[in-house]
Amino acid sequence: MMTIVWILAGFGVVVLLMILFAPHIRKYAGGGVCLSQARLDGKTVLITGANRGIGKETALDLAGRGARVIMACRDVEKGEEVAAEIRTRIGGAQVEVRELDLADTRSIRAFAQKFLREVNQLHVLINNAGVMMCPYMKTADGFEMQLGVNHLGHFLLTYLLIGLLKRSAPSRILVVSSLAHNFGWIRFHDLHSQGSYNSGLAYCQSKLANVLFTRELARRLRGSNVTVNSVHPGSVHTDLLRHSTIMTLLFTAFSLFVKTPREGAQTSIYCSVAEELQSISGKHFSDCAPAFVAPQGRSEETARKLWDVSCELLGIEWD
Ligand SMILES: NC(=O)c1ccc[n+]([C@@H]2O[C@H](COP(=O)([O-])OP(=O)(O)OC[C@H]3O[C@@H](n4cnc5c(N)ncnc54)[C@H](OP(=O)(O)O)[C@@H]3O)[C@@H](O)[C@H]2O)c1
Repeated sequence: MMTIVWILAGFGVVVLLMILFAPHIRKYAGGGVCLSQARLDGKTVLITGANRGIGKETALDLAGRGARVIMACRDVEKGEEVAAEIRTRIGGAQVEVRELDLADTRSIRAFAQKFLREVNQLHVLINNAGVMMCPYMKTADGFEMQLGVNHLGHFLLTYLLIGLLKRSAPSRILVVSSLAHNFGWIRFHDLHSQGSYNSGLAYCQSKLANVLFTRELARRLRGSNVTVNSVHPGSVHTDLLRHSTIMTLLFTAFSLFVKTPREGAQTSIYCSVAEELQSISGKHFSDCAPAFVAPQGRSEETARKLWDVSCELLGIEWD
């Protein structure tokens, strides 16, 4: 009986302390803030998955800095609603919505073809869209969904736009990865999890692929004045968790420690605009500062192998 009383009293004290210190905890949990005042007038930015979450907040901020922001969304109607909201919040904002489904290489190719016809400069490409811990699904091309959207879809998109990025240099590519890359490894023997599927591990694999892609692309872009860096936005309250009840409950229970989408967008914004990053490439950032990369994310051998396998799967040659 006494033990239960002590446990309840302890719990009560913890709750009380959390209520008392809530503003401080929130400030700390909010993480790094992009302090750069850099303007992007005359610059063009492309953001995938910009109709909600971190992508939406990134679009809002960069449009506020004067950029022409192109929101690549699979649901154009939803995208247009957000674009209208951004225009209402920022007078004179230049935002456009274009259709892109990263789970279908035909859609990616059609998007790029139209983009290259109609847009003559691209200064920042933000590979932001993502899917997490979904039930086993395949993309239109038969790739496991998380690897297909988070890695392969963005790999193809970047390949198709790299010429324009080089012609627009200095330009930047940002790959929104995750801390989850720490728990992933590339299962070359069963990349599409056909033998066995664990939704969490497949997400981690796709986010590790983001880090390895960044590393290898940076190596290949040396001297081009096009940089590429990866980002971990932090733990952010968004719809990304919609497929996982456990993660949703955890994020709700610890919501005091979880970032808002605006806070989660800070590192993407920082890597897009900070003057001091102009020539920094192949690095990983979190909270607007360089961040740790797991050993499996630093393997040049794995990065090259993944590059070759990705090219083969997509039927492209990218030297
Ligand atoms: N939230 C976090 O705690 C967290 C932590 C680490 C990393 N990240 C990364 O941050 C990025 C943004 O995630 P978020 O948290 O902002 O999630 P979110 O609110 O769910 O936004 C994801 C965006 O990706 C889009 N998307 C999904 N599948 C797509 C497809 N096939 N084609 C085109 N767009 C597609 C979604 O479009 P719809 O609206 O049509 O679904 C949505 O706009 C992701 O790469 C995620 O892995 C997030």
